Amino acid sequence: MTIRILTGITTTGTPHLGNYAGAIRPAIVASRDADVDSFYFLADYHALIKCDDPARIQRSRLEIAATWLACGLDTDKATFYRQSDIPEIPELTWLLTCVAAKGLLNRAHAYKASVDKNVENGEDPDAGVTMGLYSYPVLMAADILMFNAHKVPVGRDQIQHVEMARDIGQRFNHLFGAGRELFTLPEAVIEEEVATLPGLDGRKMSKSYDNTIPLFGSAKQLKDAIARIVTDSRAPGEPKDPDSSHLYTLYQAFSTPAQLAAFRAELLDGLAWGEAKQRLFQLLDNELGEARERYHALIERPADLEDILLAGAAKARKTATPFLNELREAVGLRSFRSNVQSADTGKKKAAKSARFVSFREDDGSFRFRLLAADGEQLLLSRTFADGKSSGLVTKRLQDGSVLDIRAEGTSYGLWLDGEVVGQGGEFADSEARDAAVQRLREALAPQE
Ligand code: TRP
Repeated sequence: MTIRILTGITTTGTPHLGNYAGAIRPAIVASRDADVDSFYFLADYHALIKCDDPARIQRSRLEIAATWLACGLDTDKATFYRQSDIPEIPELTWLLTCVAAKGLLNRAHAYKASVDKNVENGEDPDAGVTMGLYSYPVLMAADILMFNAHKVPVGRDQIQHVEMARDIGQRFNHLFGAGRELFTLPEAVIEEEVATLPGLDGRKMSKSYDNTIPLFGSAKQLKDAIARIVTDSRAPGEPKDPDSSHLYTLYQAFSTPAQLAAFRAELLDGLAWGEAKQRLFQLLDNELGEARERYHALIERPADLEDILLAGAAKARKTATPFLNELREAVGLRSFRSNVQSADTGKKKAAKSARFVSFREDDGSFRFRLLAADGEQLLLSRTFADGKSSGLVTKRLQDGSVLDIRAEGTSYGLWLDGEVVGQGGEFADSEARDAAVQRLREALAPQE
């Protein structure tokens, strides 16, 4: 089976080495698998939530696009696009907004953190909170559900958002799927091995700590950054402890096992930190040198990048456009022309194919079931002494008079002349029960 992998990159910054090792490199490796269909995109609508500097947004979109291509993403195999080139995504966002529980979004970590901070500072809880921030998880759910992704590689901070996408997708399926799974429910995947790269100061490499190593700066910038890596004060010749050195951890993320073993031996043997930094520089320069050249060539040709991304968007929309049409249908946004016809034929079909099936119990009594077109049992009758009285009831149920269906817990009963003549099954909740009652009414609706 083909697995659909999807992930987005918020376009607010310039990719650094941590992004490369933690997200870009593993995603590109995964996209080469023959059994994988990958969707990677620039989450530029999400960027607007965090950043109101148009120049920065534009620059970041260009840099991130060039980075993925320079690192070897094959856009013939993977689908690579900008979120903002897919109008189906904001449209789906609205459909999902209408089923997403506000209480669910109240629990989102990012929103809660803002509220907590406001409360701590004695401000209005929602001070500075935009609807964009609040609805962030719904937009992200639309990104994921639009393409029916199975797996979503993300950082730990995003797991909750993927779970919300599952929740929202499930609710939509339940309300509008009519027994079908309209949306695939996604799963978050965390790459355990590559999860975090230490920065210059040993904390997680992150723009917000200002401890990053640029991915595609010049060789000089790379060298300068490496020179700033914090080490202990052991002198040249003194043995170094590789396991307490984040310089070593950085080396490890890019070396072969043989290279790593050699480096380790050298450190234990007293290699000077300056030399060790030179080794790391060589390693990174070897891994990134060619990609760096490709990157700068791509940045010089923004019109070509535009073409590549527009082609990616066209490819993504081959899936998104027909699927969104199906979703519009599902919620009732249908053309009047096709709607009139399909309501007609739909009803006739349901009426024609819903059917009563009579049978006898071991004790000789008679019963019937009402089965929907798809075989779902909508009703099981009480027992009757003879086939004639059973048949009489099935006739009465189809004569077009108003049906007396009463909810009983998470089931329902069908009443006739003051007694229960049939019973529904047990449902998970009252919503599921009501949906089944609706199907029962449709099955028994008179034909025109
Ligand atoms: N919110 C993600 C982040 O900041 C980016 C993102 C947007 C995303 N849409 C997505 C990731 C869909 C995975 C799937 O990292």
